[in-house]
Formats: sequence, structure tokens, C-alpha cells
Amino acid sequence: MKRVGIFGGSFDPVHKEHFNMAKSVINELNLDLLYVIPTYKAPHKKGAYASDKDRFNMLLECFKGEQKICISPFEIESEGVSFSYLTVTHFKNLYKDAELFFLVGSDMLSSFLTWKNPEIIAKNTKLVLISRSGESGDLQALKTVETALNIKVKKLEYVGKNISSTQIRVYAGLGLDVGDFVFDGVKNYIKENNLYCGNYLYSYVSKALPEKRKIHTAGVIITALKLAKKLGANLEKVETCALLHDIAKYLDASNYPNFKLDSDVPKAIEHQFLGAYIAKTELKIDDEEILDAIRYHSTGKKDMSLISKILYVADLIEPNRKYEGVELLRQKIEENFNSGFAFATQEVLKFLEKNGQPIYYLANEVANYYKGDII
Ligand SMILES: [Fe+2]
Ligand SMILES: [Fe+2]
Repeated sequence: MKRVGIFGGSFDPVHKEHFNMAKSVINELNLDLLYVIPTYKAPHKKGAYASDKDRFNMLLECFKGEQKICISPFEIESEGVSFSYLTVTHFKNLYKDAELFFLVGSDMLSSFLTWKNPEIIAKNTKLVLISRSGESGDLQALKTVETALNIKVKKLEYVGKNISSTQIRVYAGLGLDVGDFVFDGVKNYIKENNLYCGNYLYSYVSKALPEKRKIHTAGVIITALKLAKKLGANLEKVETCALLHDIAKYLDASNYPNFKLDSDVPKAIEHQFLGAYIAKTELKIDDEEILDAIRYHSTGKKDMSLISKILYVADLIEPNRKYEGVELLRQKIEENFNSGFAFATQEVLKFLEKNGQPIYYLANEVANYYKGDII
């Protein structure tokens, strides 16, 4: 009996980890064929993302020469919301006698039961779970799906590395090299077709910051977006404030005569106030929540919005941060965001004291205000 896999996703863009997953799936499940199926995207959803045609072409580049992999335009050509049960039904009709395997990522598994007709997928295919390192909650979602549909989900041995398409879009938008994440063919395609250039804010930051600061900024955006997804914060606002948070890091406040700064503000934190000023006056950001998040991203303050808190911690724990204690902080934020945030404000104070750095009143204020949140 033929063994055929179905691997859907937005692939925006396809990256090396998708490739590794596909190859492992073929080996572990002993597949004869694996269909890689990009989802259709409604035109209004495209924005800074790639078109259906470009995503399809990048998949062709990525899997060029792979005999057992077939890129299917089925969902793109259906031009509607991509319902997986329809895709499964299509392939079941095509391969009546084959055993079908349907791949789900752990992030998708937790919402699987809310999809349209999940029982049709479960009846016609064997569900296969692919995990990525650092993802939690797999087991519980797995059990819930197994119990609800009375099936056994196969867990793939292979655990993927944590590359995400978001990371590539952010890197490309900031003009950073994406060669670590995608194969050369895809990298060239992105370049030649000017994909993922981001909006005018990305171009501004791309020109305003040196490479090292752009890598840090990319880390903050990716970390902040992950937290925002988990906590249900507005993704667009979070991305904007993370992108702009350090824009004034290399600017001199004295060059902005209309910008007023209290005389007791330590040099190291001037850029948070000047950054908010530039975002407002030059980049025409008028959302006070975004401006406030930038304005207090390094000191914090009392009574912060969720977005401000997310930016504050993302700045401290983004993957390029290497200081002593950063792992513990990451863990605490993962376990309980509000408690982790409050813990972070205390750690910042301790760090400033230990290093003999000036402590602005806001840093004391935020640590005091939130200390009751620590569990
Ligand atoms: Fe900063
Ligand atoms: Fe920063």
C-alpha cells in the first residue's frame, strides 16, 4: 500500500527547518510521496507577506531535485479559505488505496478541534505531530485531540529547531542576511523579487541602526511577537514598538531643540524618551500606547499596559542577550508572565546597583509598584 504524506502550511517563506522536517517525515514514516501544500491567502491578508505565486516558487526552489516531494497548488487554486478537511478529501479521492498521513505542528494541534470537520481528517488520515524545540503544551493538546476523536496521534521522533518564517521576514525587512535560515535559491528569490521589504518603518530602522543593533532589534521583535501571541496582545502594535524601541540609541538629544528632557535623566536611558519623540514627530506614530511602550522600555514605570510590559521584557530576554541570569529570567517569564515581569524589574535594579550605575526614579517606582505580583 502506498504511503502518502500531506504537509500544509503558509510557507511564507519556506525555510531550512521545513526542509529538514519534510526529509525526516519521509524517512520516519517510510513515505512514497510527500505533498507540500501552501495555503491560499486572501489578497487583503497579504500586506508585507509574499503572494501565492512567490510562496509556491520558493517551495519549488527549496525542494528542487527531491524525488519524493511534490509541491501541490491544490489550496492556492481553490482560492478560498483553506479547509484542511477538503484537502484531505481531495487526496483521499486521488489515492483511494493509499495510507495517508496528515502532518500537524504542535502550535496547530492545540486548535485542531476548532477546525472545520476535524473528524473527516482523522477518519481519512493518520495524524502525525511534529514538535519544535522549546514548545510546551504538546502533551496536553495531544491527549485532548486523542480523547475527543478517539484516535492515536503519531509523534514524530524528529524535533525541529526553532526557526520561524516571522524571523526571516523581520531579518529581510531590516536588511539583514537571511542565509542562516533559508537555502541560497530561496534567498536569491527573495532578493530578486524584493520580498519582505517591510513597511516604511522597517526601511527607516534599516537605515538608522548599525548591524549589531538591528540584530538586537530583530530579536526583540520576534520575542515580543511570541509573547504577544501567547498573551493575546495586539500584534501590529507590539511589532511597531519593538521595531522602533532603540531608534534613538545613536542620536544626540542636543540636536533636537524642541525635545525637552529633565536634567537628571541618566545618559543610558535618554534614548527611550528621544525614541518616542522621533516616533511621534518624524515617523508620525500617533498611537499613545505604542509611544508609551517606547518611552518607558528601559526604565519601566508604574501602571504599564500589556504592550509596554511585553516590550520591556522582550528587550531583556531576546535570544542575543547573554548576561548572567538571563536563562532564569526567560524561564520565569515563560512560566508566568506577570510574575516574571515583576521579577525582571527587581533584577534590573540589582544589576544597576551592582554595577554602580545611576538609578532613575522610574526604575525604583516600577519595581515597587509590581513587587506584589511575584509568586
Ligand atoms: Fe533601549
Ligand atoms: Fe533594546
